[in-house]
Amino acid sequence: MSTQSITIRRPDDWHVHLRDGAMMQAVLPYTAAQFGRAIIMPNLVPPVTTPALAAAYRDRIRAALPAGAQFEPLMTCYLTNTTDPDEIERGYNEGIWVAAKLYPAGATTNSHGGVTDIALIRPVLERMEKIGMKLLVHGEVTDPAVDIFDREAVFLETRMAPLAKAHPGLKIVLEHATTQEAVDFVRAHASHMACTITPHHLVINRTSIFQGGIRPHLYCLPIAKRERHRLALRKAATGGESCFFLGTDTAPHMAKLKEAACGCAGCFVAPTALQTYVQVFDEEGALAHFEAFASLNGPAFYGLPVNSGSVTLEKRSGHAPECVAVEQDHVVVFGGGAQTAWSVV
Ligand code: DOR
Ligand code: ZN
Repeated sequence: MSTQSITIRRPDDWHVHLRDGAMMQAVLPYTAAQFGRAIIMPNLVPPVTTPALAAAYRDRIRAALPAGAQFEPLMTCYLTNTTDPDEIERGYNEGIWVAAKLYPAGATTNSHGGVTDIALIRPVLERMEKIGMKLLVHGEVTDPAVDIFDREAVFLETRMAPLAKAHPGLKIVLEHATTQEAVDFVRAHASHMACTITPHHLVINRTSIFQGGIRPHLYCLPIAKRERHRLALRKAATGGESCFFLGTDTAPHMAKLKEAACGCAGCFVAPTALQTYVQVFDEEGALAHFEAFASLNGPAFYGLPVNSGSVTLEKRSGHAPECVAVEQDHVVVFGGGAQTAWSVV
C-alpha cells in the first residue's frame, strides 16, 4: 500500500509568539519552515505599541530568518488604554501592521499594559472599523473571582457580545478558542468574526495537564478545558466552515520558567504544529477540509492572497525534537521527543 499523503497550498500561522533576541533566533526557523506568513503577537517587553516599534521588530525578524527562508511576518499593534486612533491608522496605511491585539490587562503573559476597560478604546475601535483593520482578541475576563475554566465563556457573554454589537462592521478574530461556547459564538457572528484554533487544544483536555502529576508544558492560556470542549473544537476545526482557521499560539518559554513553583503559560508547538493538525484531520476523516483550515480561510478573512507554493505531508512516522537550546537553557517542544504519525516532506 502506498503511503498516504496530502499536498496543500503553503499554510499560514495566524497566531505566533516569536519573542525577541536569542529566543527568536532559536524558534523562528521552525515557524518559517512550515508557514508562509504569520501574525506576530506584540506582547514583548516593552510591548509593540507604535508603528516605529512594529517596524523595528519586523526588521529584526527578517534579519533573523535562516538564509533562503520565504517567510513574511504580519505585524500587530498592542492596544493600551491610551492608544491613539491616528497612530493606529497611520501604521495601517503605511503597511506596518495589519491588525491590533486586545489583551485585557492581566489576562496573560506580558498583558499588564493591556486594556483595563474596553470603553476606553472606543475611538480606536471605531477607527479600525472604518479603515477595515482587524481586531484580534484574547477572550478571557481577568476577574480573579471568575473560575479560570469559565473565563472565556464569561468574556464572550459580558464583553465580546456587546463589543460585536457596537461595532457590526469591525472584523474580529477571537484568538485561540477553547470552548464549545466560543465556536458557537463565532458561528453566530461569522459575517464579521472568525477564530483561530491551536493544535494543542485539539489534542489535550484539562485532565491531560494533571496526567500522573503536574505537567507544566501543557499549561497555557486560555487553559485547556474539559473533554466535551476539545471535541467541539475538533468538530469546528475540521468541519470546513470558513470562520475557523489555523493559529498555533506557539508560545516558547525557557524550561526553567515553566518548571517552576509559579510557571509561565504557553506551549511551544511550532516544530510539531502541522503534524498535529493533519493527524487530527485524519482521525476525524476530514483531510478534504485541511487545506481550507490551514491555507485558505485565514487569507480570505484577512483579505490577503493565498500563498503560492505548496507543502506535502505524509502519513509516516517522523521524529520531533524534544527541545530546542536557547542560551544556557532550552525550550521544551509540545509533543517533542516522540514519534509523530505524520511528517512534513
Ligand atoms: O499561554 C499563553 N502564552 N497564552 C497567551 O495568551 C500568551 C502566551 C505567551 O505569550 O506566553
Ligand atoms: Zn497567544
